[in-house]
Amino acid sequence: MTDSSQNSKKPATQAVTSGRRKEWTEAVVNPPVWRASTHLYDSVADLRAGLSSNADGQFFYGRRGSPTQWSLADALTEMEPGAAGTMLYPSGVAAIACAMLAVVKPGDEVLLTDSSYDPSRSYADAFLKRMGITARYYDPLIGAEIGSLFTDKTKAILLESPGSLTFEVQDVPAICSAAKEAGITSLLDNTWATSRFFPALSKGVDISIVAATKYIVGHSDVMMGAATTHDKYWTRLRRTAQRLGQVVSPDDAYLAARGLRTLEVRLKQHEQSALTIAHWLKERDEVGLVLHPALPDCPGHEIWKRDFDGASGLFSFQLIDGDEKSRAVFIDSLALFGIGYSWGGFESLALPVDPGKYRTATEWTMKGALVRLHVGLEDPDDLIADLAKAFEHYNNAL
Ligand SMILES: Cc1ncc(COP(=O)(O)O)c(C=O)c1O
Repeated sequence: MTDSSQNSKKPATQAVTSGRRKEWTEAVVNPPVWRASTHLYDSVADLRAGLSSNADGQFFYGRRGSPTQWSLADALTEMEPGAAGTMLYPSGVAAIACAMLAVVKPGDEVLLTDSSYDPSRSYADAFLKRMGITARYYDPLIGAEIGSLFTDKTKAILLESPGSLTFEVQDVPAICSAAKEAGITSLLDNTWATSRFFPALSKGVDISIVAATKYIVGHSDVMMGAATTHDKYWTRLRRTAQRLGQVVSPDDAYLAARGLRTLEVRLKQHEQSALTIAHWLKERDEVGLVLHPALPDCPGHEIWKRDFDGASGLFSFQLIDGDEKSRAVFIDSLALFGIGYSWGGFESLALPVDPGKYRTATEWTMKGALVRLHVGLEDPDDLIADLAKAFEHYNNAL
């Protein structure tokens, strides 16, 4: 597949051109939807040749994909400097689970950031444990001190930066460098930034994972995950995904690739609108901390400034006197923000967040109540008016 080191195009150009190989698109702009389980061969000799080569981007059988999936995977590889290949999975959780399984075995130990997305924790605590793999959690702000946690059994570290609920920005280069020195594989959940705002492999990450469900798809209508890696892990990642039967439908791959073409403009708008709203919230009397990586309130803000090329549309804020009931009144009063899981689509969302319920390595001591917002592509003035109205209801409920 494509080697991204050959690429010198600017990100907006890459988002438009990557993966659109002539042999896949022929006379049209987008690679068509190739729906197939069976791939047909000209002869028994051809069939035998396909089996032995196991080459990327070659017809073999539906589970290995077709030009629709290959094109999307190729595009994601091109967009990640230093990448050798990308595997696609039917969800972000599948990407995390399968990428981890590619690098650990029974008896090993994995380290997970305490800010990990909840289902990543439950995968480690329930599933990996049953496989005889121990999970230990670490302070997301540990930085180079991570080395003090390594044992002979530690084989993988999961990072999530920023944490998608509490937004601590991790010192990814320091953690990955310590891991590399100790022969430990680093995996990053890079869903918040994508390779556009955080080119993970060039910061030392071994396997960069995104829930493509969010910003890649961008329209809240497809579930998908992707893991991108460099030469050292590519064969292992690919074989593990194949052995676990991971495949995404060509229809979903088509929609994800369509989303990808506008990633640059969407991300920039999410960034701008979310910053406008974060700064507006910061001025409100009802609000304490605004946990947006581009604001000084956010733990790791200085690292964000050092390492990231931008910020996406997801952040949290503290209702300083809030409790469960008044926070529910606030969220229920919003008209333009939907109430629901996920994020990264064109529409705004609000969610109550309670980090104290799942943290184990660090204590969550923030007073009041936390709300997570995904700022969509609506006009930020309308979103601010909506939030202002919700604050009126919230104040009456206190
Ligand atoms: C940070 C993060 N990683 C991974 C996932 C999982 O993605 P999916 O819902 O596609 O399984 C999510 C979903 O909300 C997420 O927020």
